Amino acid sequence: MTKIIVANWKMNPKSLKEARVIFKETYTLARGIKNAKIVVCPPFPYLFLSGNFKSKNVFLGAQNVAKDGEGSYTGEVSSNMLKNMSVNYVIVGHSERRFLGENDNIINKKIFNLLKNKITPILCVGENKRDHDGFYLSFVKEQLKNCLNEIPKAQIKNIIIAYEPVWAIGKGAVREATKEEFLEMKIFIKKVISDIYDANTAHSVSILYGGSVNPLNAESFVKGGEADGLLVGRDSLNSKKFGDILNVATQ
Ligand code: PGA
Repeated sequence: MTKIIVANWKMNPKSLKEARVIFKETYTLARGIKNAKIVVCPPFPYLFLSGNFKSKNVFLGAQNVAKDGEGSYTGEVSSNMLKNMSVNYVIVGHSERRFLGENDNIINKKIFNLLKNKITPILCVGENKRDHDGFYLSFVKEQLKNCLNEIPKAQIKNIIIAYEPVWAIGKGAVREATKEEFLEMKIFIKKVISDIYDANTAHSVSILYGGSVNPLNAESFVKGGEADGLLVGRDSLNSKKFGDILNVATQ
């Protein structure tokens, strides 16, 4: 099955020149990869660079979008503008944006706007910490219910969900997640979607894993954890590591 590998560059790299190099390297890597859709999500000022490259399996993504369709919103970028830049995917609900004040209600509005423009939302969910009483499950369930509120059933297959446990993300990660922890959550997310909609709808959704994905653990999430793909932060900026991740995750 085709895996979806998302490269989340976050607020990197520092210069246009470096961004051009990473784009080029990513497109070169993609040439050797079968069975994968690679979604590159650079910061807004670098989106245009993708126009210099061509590939059947690399797609352009953004890291944010306005919750409103159009109007006087200083500093915002609308889904329509992104569509015009050939953006086909947008990450929404990332924990780093939630820390900046983005809540489920705002994320829900962003998803509506993206779907209207036929852009695939990559909805990130994930608990801040693990507990022994299963509260992390109800936390993720709430996020899903709120973020998908009133999204029509027929649209759910056009949304990708990324499970990103906050405690496993970035340099400050407490520890890496395990494939068992991912698999449990994948099954749980499907159950929640099945309860809101139905089993077929739950079956149609791709569920990715994200949080400290690296060349050593990538395979375990995809094979043992049955992830439909990966959301890669730091290691998507390093072509050697990203190439290794692509290789092991798509074999
Ligand atoms: P990381 O980031 O791979 O650097 O942990 C993942 C993410 O936050 O999307």
